Amino acid sequence: MLNARCLGVNAAGHLTIGGRDTVELAQTYGTPLYVMDENEIRGNCRSYRQSIDKYYGGRGLVAYASKAFNCKAICRIVMEEGLGLDVVSGGELYTAMSVGFPADRIIFHGNNKSPDELAMAISYGVGRIVVDNIVELHLISQLAKSKKETAHIMLRIKPGIDAHTHNFVRTGQIDSKFGFALETGEAMEAVKTALAAPGVELRGLHCHIGSQIFDVEPFELAAQVMADFMADIRDQTGVALAELNLGGGFGICYTSDNDPPAYDSYMERVSQAVKKTCQQRKMETPFILIEPGRSIVGPAGITLYRVGAVKEIPGVRTYVSVDGGMTDNPRYILYQSQYTFTVASRAADAKVQGVTVAGKCCESGDLLGENVPLQEVHPGDILAVLATGAYNYSMASNYNRSCRPPVVLVNGQAARVIIRRETYEDLIRNDEE
Ligand code: LLP
Repeated sequence: MLNARCLGVNAAGHLTIGGRDTVELAQTYGTPLYVMDENEIRGNCRSYRQSIDKYYGGRGLVAYASKAFNCKAICRIVMEEGLGLDVVSGGELYTAMSVGFPADRIIFHGNNKSPDELAMAISYGVGRIVVDNIVELHLISQLAKSKKETAHIMLRIKPGIDAHTHNFVRTGQIDSKFGFALETGEAMEAVKTALAAPGVELRGLHCHIGSQIFDVEPFELAAQVMADFMADIRDQTGVALAELNLGGGFGICYTSDNDPPAYDSYMERVSQAVKKTCQQRKMETPFILIEPGRSIVGPAGITLYRVGAVKEIPGVRTYVSVDGGMTDNPRYILYQSQYTFTVASRAADAKVQGVTVAGKCCESGDLLGENVPLQEVHPGDILAVLATGAYNYSMASNYNRSCRPPVVLVNGQAARVIIRRETYEDLIRNDEE
């Protein structure tokens, strides 16, 4: 199963991405190698923009959640596509600003932003700083006042929705390190404090209920809870907040077990929930923001490895070792995330065995998958892992002093390195003698 529009198989039986032969790409750029398809990324940006235009009459902004994959090239692509950008650290913000991303389209997240990061955001004129807690609210107010500036903020609210996803990526319930709780009254208190605080302008509310979610229902529910809360705020304070940010979290297809709804149908149902609540509560529909990350870049990326040892342990399992592993993709060791694997030169062949794909780190748990269906495989083959465009490069590490692989962006017959391969020199650059 090839789980993205950009993937195919050519006449030689080789896996292709954006029409390019992956065996050739591996030869040209070396392995391990991340490859991403520009048209797929741009297409995903456009689908989101079109559906937000369709269902909210253009009164909305799609902000790409760059924690999924952030570098200069992706910031430029997203900027050209007219999206906003969600950043979650000074580093992501700095990268965006380094390519001239319009600050008013940036949303700055984080549950513990440092005073330096906040000062940086205020002086850049970041459009929306999403305030996580009361300590941060006071800090922003103080910083903005001392700089004689106005900080534009949203408040992160926990709507208390269980989105039935993996525990590590569930962030909407009460027991979460993110945001203000609704049920306890903490959120309403925070709104009142923000409205009275000098140096800040409260643009609206934010929520994010989790990641890799397939059900539309929790999103509808969250939208309804948030719109209701906006009406409560108006009733209690007389202030109608202008904006509602519904976060990201839309699931993608990693294996044939995954069946994500079309983003358009998500948008249609959620917009109905927002509009219905607004009508019931006699409130104008707010300006809507969404923050997809994984679903914009995930399907557009693959990782190519070269197979080394193939170790068959009779009656136990077969280990297929590759020249990368948890350093370029820690998602299996962290979340037991499932992926689709294919031998790049035998992509048209049937998968005839179940293997364990092992990385090269000095760690037994360094695996990329267990019992994964695979074609016949031999040392020297190129092994492709599909849908690695999100949370792979961005979560990569230098464990065992491994060099992070490069990222190559293909676009038709053109291909270019957008992040170069790390070298041993890079690894010792910060070491003192
Ligand atoms: N907005 C906020 C406030 C978020 O916290 C996140 C993701 C997103 C948007 C984007 O969510 P997406 O559309 O990408 O699901 N490392 C984990 C994923 C962590 C997601 C954290 N927040 C993984 O590899 O699955």
